Amino acid sequence: VSATDAAPQPTRIRVRGHAPYDVIVGSGVTAELSGLLGQGALRVAVIHPPALRSCVADVTSELTGRGYRVLDIEVPDAEDAKNVTVAATAWSALGRAGFTRSDAIVGVGGGSTTDLAGFVAATWLRGVRLVLVPTTLLGMVDAAVGGKTAINTAEGKNLVGVFHPPAGVVCDVASLSTLPRSDYISGLAEVVKAGFIADPDILDLLERNPEEAVTPAGAVAAELIERAIRVKAAVVEGDLREHGARQILNYGHTLGHAIEKVERYRWRHGAAVSVGMVFAAELARIAGRLDDPTAERHRTVLAQLGLPTTYTGAPWNELLDTMRVDKKARADRLRFIVLDGIAQPGVLEAPDSALLEAAYARVSPS
Ligand SMILES: NC(=O)c1ccc[n+]([C@@H]2O[C@H](COP(=O)([O-])OP(=O)(O)OC[C@H]3O[C@@H](n4cnc5c(N)ncnc54)[C@H](O)[C@@H]3O)[C@@H](O)[C@H]2O)c1
Repeated sequence: VSATDAAPQPTRIRVRGHAPYDVIVGSGVTAELSGLLGQGALRVAVIHPPALRSCVADVTSELTGRGYRVLDIEVPDAEDAKNVTVAATAWSALGRAGFTRSDAIVGVGGGSTTDLAGFVAATWLRGVRLVLVPTTLLGMVDAAVGGKTAINTAEGKNLVGVFHPPAGVVCDVASLSTLPRSDYISGLAEVVKAGFIADPDILDLLERNPEEAVTPAGAVAAELIERAIRVKAAVVEGDLREHGARQILNYGHTLGHAIEKVERYRWRHGAAVSVGMVFAAELARIAGRLDDPTAERHRTVLAQLGLPTTYTGAPWNELLDTMRVDKKARADRLRFIVLDGIAQPGVLEAPDSALLEAAYARVSPS
């Protein structure tokens, strides 16, 4: 292989903090796995959904080739994996295989699978090594980075979980080629969010290359993914447990979560967050904190990617009540992350109802 044929070097993004780790981004980067698993593990459990056979086969052959004994743990697809019954099935599999604290878990799949794999790794023997291989855009730029793991209960999403940072994350951009376009575009909402809260270059890249941006094979995808991961890494490394800085990642999510909930999760996360960001921009604009062109830029960049900027489903009162019971609201005081400018996030505490309604009217044309 000549030097020109060689695959470009993967990018390594360091997530600092008390348990630092690398997020490796590139094409065909499965070979990076063993470096992240370290020396101690004999056995590696690969937790994955039924789909993604070729990704899982790559991961398994890489691991067996390096001498690990692989335990295959198949879990139900998507959100159906995130419950205590599935976690218990995985615990039983680890128990039967005699998994020790020096063994490791690899989670391969979208955010649902990596959340479940993380939860199982955090709880088995009070915590074993975890390496994540996210295969959705949302997984790469959001769910797999930051150390939050969770399962759902009958009462709601992500109500049970543990902070358990991974030992490493491997983002193989090539694995995104099979992701449905609508899932990819939904994941782009989090990339746009990273642009508005911290990295204006992301917005420029998206605006200059709208066609390329909506396809994972496009020339800008890897750069967008890397930039969004750097934003998340920089935020979470100082605030693993979500006490302060990390709340800026909630931009667009207060209304977004409420829309997801009232729509019974038939709306994609990214679509709901997209409307939520336009709403937050309107809040800040009407409150006199954000200039008109930046508020308007939310609409243009999101619409250009095919993300929604309006919502006319549930009535406002229902959304308001839903926002009040969101676990991130404090008591029932609503607080929103807003912008005072691009890359200048701040908090809007307990806005009055006239302001909220005026902003909502701008995203919910009658
Ligand atoms: N822990 C965190 O900080 C965090 C952050 C954001 C979201 N999340 C969680 O992430 C979950 C959503 O993640 P998601 O959007 O990745 O969805 P997902 O994991 O439910 O996956 C969506 C679908 O895509 C399929 N899929 C995955 N990779 C594929 C590929 N490469 N090709 C084809 N199909 C593929 C999956 O099998 C599934 O059917 C939610 O449960 C959410 O709570 C967690």
